[in-house]
Amino acid sequence: MTEHVPDHVYWNERYAAATHGVWSGEPNAVLARETADLSPGTALDLGCGEGGDAIHLARLGWRVTAVDISDVALERAAQHAERAGVAERIEWQRHDLSETFPAGSYDLVSAQFPHFRDGTLSPRVLRAAAAAVAPGGTLLIEAHGGPPPWQHDLPDDLTFPTPEETVATLQLPPDEWEILLAERHPRSQRHPHTGELATREDQTVVARRGRCAG
Ligand SMILES: C[S@@+](CC[C@H](N)C(=O)[O-])C[C@H]1O[C@@H](n2cnc3c(N)ncnc32)[C@H](O)[C@@H]1O
Repeated sequence: MTEHVPDHVYWNERYAAATHGVWSGEPNAVLARETADLSPGTALDLGCGEGGDAIHLARLGWRVTAVDISDVALERAAQHAERAGVAERIEWQRHDLSETFPAGSYDLVSAQFPHFRDGTLSPRVLRAAAAAVAPGGTLLIEAHGGPPPWQHDLPDDLTFPTPEETVATLQLPPDEWEILLAERHPRSQRHPHTGELATREDQTVVARRGRCAG
């Protein structure tokens, strides 16, 4: 894969190469935990991949808009949703979030590992995600806090923000938003090829927008 390959081609090739799926199909654990006590409403899933989170939310009664740059991932996700019997509760939208962002406001905006191809988190996307949260709604961002122990070929200039830096990037007016959680935590992850189990660090940010916002 060379640098000049467009991002959507890169991600499509990555998904197409993994015929049995890149991800487990299960919802992300933090998403499942942090949404368990929320009343279902409308949800936006940014960088939805193969749809594990969107399908989980739809099963709980959410009406989900799920977005990814990869048509291959979105087609696969839509097939999973059909099989799960929740297709009518999910709208799949293709966006390159560095260029376009889905319209509307949502009771839940979730971005689970919304890392671009170079590993970065886009401040513009994070702020657009916050802006898309409806009054009374929740913003949930889960991201890597460091590289997996087996990855040694990361760009020298790639840094992983702390949860506090992610909160600062969001620029949430304090009179409108409450930060419910901003923490690092360890997570076990298997090496994609060898299956070797390792612990890496992730970060979670959960914020709630006040009801009088907007
Ligand atoms: C690390 S994966 C996470 C997938 C899923 N949220 C999960 O946790 O399993 C990042 C996802 O973001 C998508 N993505 C990367 N760059 C994007 C962009 N510019 N616009 C929209 N989606 C993008 C990729 O196709 C991929 O599905």
